[in-house]
Amino acid sequence: MVTQVDDGATERGVWPTSSSSAPHIMAKMLDALALRPGMRVLEVGTGTGYNAALLAELTGAENVTTVEVDPSLADHARRALEDAGYPVTVVTGDGMRGYRHNAPYDRIIVTAAVREVPYAWVEQLGAGGLILVPWVASFHPDEPLAALEVRADGTAEGRFGAPAWFMPMRSQRLQQQAIRDTETRWAAAGKPEASRYGVTVTADGQRIWLDSPDNPVM
Ligand SMILES: C[S@@+](CC[C@H](N)C(=O)[O-])C[C@H]1O[C@@H](n2cnc3c(N)ncnc32)[C@H](O)[C@@H]1O
Repeated sequence: MVTQVDDGATERGVWPTSSSSAPHIMAKMLDALALRPGMRVLEVGTGTGYNAALLAELTGAENVTTVEVDPSLADHARRALEDAGYPVTVVTGDGMRGYRHNAPYDRIIVTAAVREVPYAWVEQLGAGGLILVPWVASFHPDEPLAALEVRADGTAEGRFGAPAWFMPMRSQRLQQQAIRDTETRWAAAGKPEASRYGVTVTADGQRIWLDSPDNPVM
């Protein structure tokens, strides 16, 4: 359900910029995170705060930090979460930087789509930590979810899965032409299933690959 348009501009807007995520996608993402009580979780994209409340139920409110770039949404969510009895830490800021102050985390769940995983997220997880993040249509038109695991050598790697269709992070929006280019590139590659793609993130940057990390495509 859309809860904000046009980044909160006061005129009548048309472009959704915040929403409460579809319940079946949220349920799948929470399941994929394999959360247990006591796990420390960072959510990027607080929105309404509803997902942060679910995270608090599963791991304990004291273990949940959530970052929202839009100050009015962050304030609203902070109050709603407090009123509902979930005193999670709501941070107003750019979630692309994570939130170093409460690291290390066991899990990072991102509820807005990216075309790049910032290394800050990897650094803020311990070895064995998981990042679950939806992708914008930069290599496959389905906007799939990526599940990355952090290794002891400080590299994060994982494959893409089901389509998620999240709105993009504010710094990660693509122009229509870039989306059309994605369709063209994907068709030229023979329209591979999203699950054949994977991503590796190191301190030097990220690589998207097809079938195996030694076959980078982006
Ligand atoms: C689909 S909504 C999140 C839904 C939310 N998890 C919930 O339970 O309601 C995506 C949110 O990400 C926020 N967002 C966009 N770019 C961001 C950024 N760079 N850092 C943090 N939040 C961001 C948007 O303002 C929006 O509220």
